[in-house]
Order: sequence, then structure tokens, then C-alpha cells
Amino acid sequence: MRKNIVAGNWKMNTTVAEGVALAKEVNDALAQNKANCDVVICVPFTHLASVAAVIDQNLLGLGAENCADHTSGAYTGEVSASMVASTGAKYVILGHSERRQYYGETSATLREKIALALANNLTPIFCIGEVLAERENGTYNDVVKAQIEEALFDLSAEDFSKLVLAYEPVWAIGTGKTATADQAEDMHAHIRATIAAKYGQEVADNTSILYGGSCKPSNAAELFAKPDVDGGLIGGASLKCADFMGIVSAF
Ligand code: 13P
Repeated sequence: MRKNIVAGNWKMNTTVAEGVALAKEVNDALAQNKANCDVVICVPFTHLASVAAVIDQNLLGLGAENCADHTSGAYTGEVSASMVASTGAKYVILGHSERRQYYGETSATLREKIALALANNLTPIFCIGEVLAERENGTYNDVVKAQIEEALFDLSAEDFSKLVLAYEPVWAIGTGKTATADQAEDMHAHIRATIAAKYGQEVADNTSILYGGSCKPSNAAELFAKPDVDGGLIGGASLKCADFMGIVSAF
């Protein structure tokens, strides 16, 4: 059966020293209070090797926030999936709405990134979600279905089974406006049905689908209680150990 996961996305925050201190604090908190779910932090590239050295990945998984869509070579400033894996990281966030919106990521580039992440034994945490206008004009189910079909449906069932999905309504990210637990459940059930129609019910039932967008200790329990919500992808609240642990302990 699918795993429950709480994953932090630190985005472009913290220096290396601050990030190492935060990672240690989270690791120590998990050593004291064993979590009832998998816990992951996704951190800036610059931090990966230093954070890997101070955490126990049996307690706290480590991931990157992106990787390149090429294997290696003349791509100044890019960081490849094999470089990420060489730090000891096991996960990579792909297709975050901020990457789609500000850096022009398309389903075509995301297909390359997913293939390279999988080839390097990284677990992609693949993000999907509609913008406010699409929520308001009622096209959100179609938008999210298309994001999944375009980026993921050329994968074999075996490869698809290695993914974690994260539904992040763009209008709820960093806005303090959380999707209601019912809105999240409706979309997660739609995502699972979309997967089932392509890969079968067993693959769909085994896929972890996380919710992201203004998730915090005060709303995590209600969201995670929904049958199709298998955890969270946490931005702002992952930057404070107490808040992050408050969300982890919702399971
Ligand atoms: P916030 O939790 O800050 O709304 O961010 C959500 C997010 O984008 C996680 O990837």
C-alpha cells in the first residue's frame, strides 16, 4: 500500500550553515519522536552534500528541488540528476509551479528530467496544479489531467510506480489560502482515477499523492485525514523545525 509522506521544499532559502543547522534540528527531532510517515527535506543544490553528511536518511530523506534535462556537458549553471544522486540525495522535486511559471518548464522538458531522475535512482516528486483562473472557470480537473498525461503517460507502469505526485493549487502556494480538505480530496480522487484509467487500480492505489499549498500544523490533520491525501509538500512551514514537526505529527 502507498506511503504517507511529509516533504519539505525549502525553495531559495537559507545559507549552507543555516540549512545544515535546520536539517540537524529536524533529524534530531525525528530521532526523539519517531514519525508515523516518511519525512523528506528538499533543499538547494548548494546544501545537498553538507546536509547529507549530518542526517540519518533512515529518519529523514533528502532531495533536490530540480535537476537538469540533459545528462552532462555544456549547460552552464545546470545541475544534473547524476550530480544530485552523487550527493546522497534520493528525491527530486520536478515540475514545481514556480519552475513552470518563472523558468518556462514545459511537459517536454519535464519528460526528460523525469527520465534522467529515474535513470539515476532518484524518486521524482512530480508537481501538478491549476492557477486561480482555472479554479474559477471550472477547468481545473482537465488542466491537472493534461499535466499528468503530457508529462507522465509515456512511462511504463513500472516506472510510473516509482513516482510521488504532489497536487499544489498555485493559488494556495505561499498565499495563506489553503484548499479546503474537501477540495483537496476531490482533486486527489480525480488524480487517482486518472492514473487508474491508464495504469490500473493497483498502480493508482499504490501512488502517494501529496497536497501542497499553505499547509501548516493547524490544517494538516484535516487534510491528511482525507482518504486520497497521502501527505504534504510543505514550503514556508518547512523552514521552522517546530512547524514542520507539527505537520509530521498530524499522522
Ligand atoms: P507553501 O507551503 O509556502 O504555501 O508552499 C507550498 C509549496 O510550493 C511546496 O512546494
